[in-house]
Amino acid sequence: MSQIAEVTLKRAEDSDFLPILGTDYIEFYVGNARQAAYYYQHAFGFQPIAYRGLESGYREAASYVLRQGKITFVFTTPYHPGNFIADHIYRHGDGVRVLALQVEDATQAYAETTRRGGRPFMPPTRLEDENGYVILSGIHTYGDTVHIFVERGHYNGPFLPGYLPWGGFGQSTPIGLKYVDHCVGNVYLGEMNQFVAFYRDVMGFRQLISFDDKDISTEYSALMSKVMANGNGYIKFPINEPAQGRRKSQIEEYLEYYHGQGVQHIAMATDDIIHTVRELRRRGIEFLETPKTYYETLLDRVGQIDEPVEVLAELGILVDRDDEGYLLQIFTKPVQDRPTLFYEIIQRKGAKSFGKGNFKALFEAIEREQARRGNL
Ligand code: FE2
Repeated sequence: MSQIAEVTLKRAEDSDFLPILGTDYIEFYVGNARQAAYYYQHAFGFQPIAYRGLESGYREAASYVLRQGKITFVFTTPYHPGNFIADHIYRHGDGVRVLALQVEDATQAYAETTRRGGRPFMPPTRLEDENGYVILSGIHTYGDTVHIFVERGHYNGPFLPGYLPWGGFGQSTPIGLKYVDHCVGNVYLGEMNQFVAFYRDVMGFRQLISFDDKDISTEYSALMSKVMANGNGYIKFPINEPAQGRRKSQIEEYLEYYHGQGVQHIAMATDDIIHTVRELRRRGIEFLETPKTYYETLLDRVGQIDEPVEVLAELGILVDRDDEGYLLQIFTKPVQDRPTLFYEIIQRKGAKSFGKGNFKALFEAIEREQARRGNL
């Protein structure tokens, strides 16, 4: 990094009114948290951390907490109808409710964001047990999705107060997932810029990149996307909106089946994508198929890479290069019956971009799946 760039970054950090230490956790509201926890433990290699439910004296909902590297997932199911969690599942199916961000001061995070127009979700709330205390606060973002600010500097328990240590369902081996690289939201046609402004004005993020329908279009459909990042760059939230195409775009399909705006995909980073994807495939995770022709011209497009092309072709891993290096990535099929949330596995080798060179191949693969669902 040049000296000028370093100084600029330092200044940006100095003026950052919402310093974020990283993604704290992602909470999913699901129809059957117990079975979802089993799936993420055994298929994705997450390790059991904590539990809250009837056995711990909590009578509203059951929650299972699992972790791999710095990625913490929480799966929550209500015991009864007639509450917000049950309504969320009825409307959206399984999906992401909370994108929690770790901060040093959740009271300040709430004050700064709500003062700038953030819609309050939870005023600063202190929770404690024998392991110490946390302060949580939160604001709304797109759809029914919320950001919770987590201040956990004075807490030593397994997750949050009220959660008990939990041993999971037998043994499972991690597959090398390290951290959340980025988390993408789908919003309605014409609303992308409103959420770009939300992340800029309310959360102090800056826009890294934008893609328009010239970058991201196939014969049938198109989308627009802008990538927002926080001051230190740890948090990246791309926002997608559908663009006018000849047929229904993947974003429109998502919005129709999620019945609203929400998290489209979570990208999880690995240092060894070949190992990670081989393990995921062995454990039955389904990925979008990449046509063999993609690999015939791969080296012409991306130049020299460390990984054998035949192995990438066997596993369906995509490669893209930018000015700073290259990246390897692959996308799962949706992980629930509704064609909504899916995952990206990404390995960065210098590249800081998002695989623009793969968009066309990727979206054609998505459209083949849409056509099979009768939704193209
Ligand atoms: Fe992505």
